[in-house]
Order: sequence, then C-alpha cells, then structure tokens
Amino acid sequence: MNTNSLFSPFQLKSLNIKNRLVMAPMTRSFSPDGVPTPEVAAYYRKRAEGEVGLILSEGTVIDRPSSSNDKDVPHFYGNQALAGWQNVINNVHSAGGAMGPQIWHMGIMDNHASGWTPAEPFEGPSGTNRPDNNNGKTMTESDIADTIAAFGRAAADAKRLGFDCVEIHGAHGYLIDQFFWEGTNERTDIYGGKNLPERSRFALEVIKEVRKQVGDDFAVIIRLSQFKPSAYDTKIAHTPQELEAWINPMAEAGIDIFHCSQRRFWEPEFEGSDLNFAGWAKKVSGKATITVGSVGLSGDFFGAFAGESSQPSSLDELVRRMDRGDFDLVAVGRPLLSDPFWVQKIREQRTNELKGFSKEALAQLIID
Ligand SMILES: Cc1cc2nc3c(=O)[nH]c(=O)nc-3n(C[C@H](O)[C@H](O)[C@H](O)COP(=O)(O)O)c2cc1C
Repeated sequence: MNTNSLFSPFQLKSLNIKNRLVMAPMTRSFSPDGVPTPEVAAYYRKRAEGEVGLILSEGTVIDRPSSSNDKDVPHFYGNQALAGWQNVINNVHSAGGAMGPQIWHMGIMDNHASGWTPAEPFEGPSGTNRPDNNNGKTMTESDIADTIAAFGRAAADAKRLGFDCVEIHGAHGYLIDQFFWEGTNERTDIYGGKNLPERSRFALEVIKEVRKQVGDDFAVIIRLSQFKPSAYDTKIAHTPQELEAWINPMAEAGIDIFHCSQRRFWEPEFEGSDLNFAGWAKKVSGKATITVGSVGLSGDFFGAFAGESSQPSSLDELVRRMDRGDFDLVAVGRPLLSDPFWVQKIREQRTNELKGFSKEALAQLIID
C-alpha cells in the first residue's frame, strides 16, 4: 500500500507538521486534582518520538467551577496545572512533535462513577444533557459571558505556553454541543432558537473570543460531531445545506480547521455521495479538515468503552479518500493508546507489528 499522502508535511499559520497524522484527543484521567504529572508529559513525548505529526491533548477543562465531572481530568487554568502543561509541551517539542490542547467545558453531566462532584452544580443551556435528564442549572447570561471569557483565557494560555494550535471541543454532547442540539437547548433568549444557526450563537461567541485572544496567525481548530453518546444516530445537520449554514459562520468567526468526529470514517455523511463528514465540511467551507473514526481498526470506539477489543485493519480506503483530497489530516485514537510507535510502523510498512486495541490500554498510560 502506498501511504505517501499521509506522510507529506502540512503547514497552516502556526502549525508546521511533518505528516498528516494526528493523535485524537483522549481523556485519560491521570492528572490528580487537574494537574498533569511528569508521567503525562512522558506519555505525550513518547507519541512525538513515535512520529505523530500533531498531538491533540485529552480534553482539558476551562476555568469554571463546574466545567468537569472528574477530579483527575486535567485543568487548563491555575499555576500548577499550567506548569504541568508547560512541561508537556516542552517535552513534545524536544522530541520533534507539535501539539495543541483540546479546551473543554463538559456542560451538564451525569455524576462520575467515582462519586466526586464539583463544588457547584453542572451548568448548561437548559439543565439537561439529554432530553428529560436534568442534572444541573440553566446558565444565566452572566454565566455564559464568563464561560466565553474562560475559553479565551485558555486559548491565550495555550499560545503563551508555546503550543502550536488550540482545539475547541464542540462535539460529543458536551457544553458547546448542548447549545447546538435542539434536544438540550430549550432557551428562549438569544442563545436558543429554532434552527441550528441560531443555536450556534454561543459557539460563535466562543470562537470570536478565542480568535481575539490568540491573534490572526495562531491555528484554531474546532471539533464537531453529529452524534451524541446519548443519541448515536442523531444528526444536527441533515443536509449539505444545513451543514454549510452551521459551519461557515464558524469559519468566518475564526476557525481554521474543522475536526469532524465520526465513529467510522468510511461512512457517507449524506445520501447521494460517498463523502464523509470531513469531506463534506471541506467541500462546503473550503477550510482544512481532519477526519477520524476507526482508522486502522476493525471496531469503533463505543465498543471500546464496552470493553471490546479491535484488530488492525487496512488503510486502503483511508488512503483512497486522502489521495482524492477529501480531507487534510487524519486523527487516530485507540491505536496510539496501545502503541506510541503506530505512526512510525505505518511509515515503515511494518504492518505485521501493529497491535490493534484492547481495553487494558485504558487502565494505564502506556509509555514504553
Ligand atoms: C479513552 C478515550 C477517551 C476519549 N476522550 C475524548 C476527549 O477527551 N475528547 C474528544 O473529543 N474525544 C475523545 N474521544 C474520542 C476520540 O478522540 C476519537 O474520536 C475516537 O476514539 C475515534 O477514534 P479511533 O476510532 O481512532 O479510536 C475519546 C476516545 C477514547 C477511546
């Protein structure tokens, strides 16, 4: 298999990466009280040594009292946590890698299995994280303004610490997505509305603030998904026209790259074309896009949370789409949990050494 197109360099504003392979953001919960440890830095450094072009960090939460439901998810605020992240990026850079933090507010959450809860109730557009499941409070306009400012501070800190880009987490049913989705946004003020462009106002204000804080030359990515973990088959944009009306205002507000989260990258997004989510996003916006979803694996990541293993699978279909110019970058999740050298093995065609994924990889940070 000729994988050359995966190994050409990519440059966009502050991003200079040696290949098209991106480590997908993956929550690990190994940062006690929100502070990334030297082991976390070693874990990311090892993926840079393994030739990952761009590392996107696990979701790291912004400075709001209830932005997280897990005490060991890293913070992206406060001196101690930011010093931990400084160590992470220094390690990644010294191993020749590039990295951006995925900045995150979880919004309304279910309580974590550990029993830990934040000091204040979860907050979201309407108190629910899925229809009829209320587990928090409806944000006031002042909560919203403070949250937008906190996203901006996190982005400014990412740039100040020397990260190469920043990714805003707008996917998977968390806060920003709770505003997008009619199933969780019942507001009647300017942050609600009957159509997706109206419900995008919160995201657009976050993006504008982030852009204002980082300036024109720093690459800003947003991660979006059509699905929610509570509603796998949901689409929030049902047609290419709705997709365009959803994402083009985000491009105008300052997004450089759309990271289009799918469970299986080969699935067409709309009828009548085999283009996937990232393919359509690139087509309607003209912006760079990242695809993701079961690259090199036989099963998808919801299966992983249920304890299922996945075997290595062919990259032919991925390369066919990449060569056709459907997307610019390819994110890989689970294979990089088990194997820091997955990218290097692909480049060197050592396919018989690929490991796949098994649930043991979730229980620890695999560094060797
Ligand atoms: C353990 C684990 C944690 C994840 N945490 C996040 C996260 O913090 N932010 C996010 O946007 N996606 C998260 N995801 C989704 C991945 O980024 C990725 O989209 C998904 O695993 C599909 O890619 P894969 O099939 O290559 O694993 C997580 C996935 C896994 C397996």
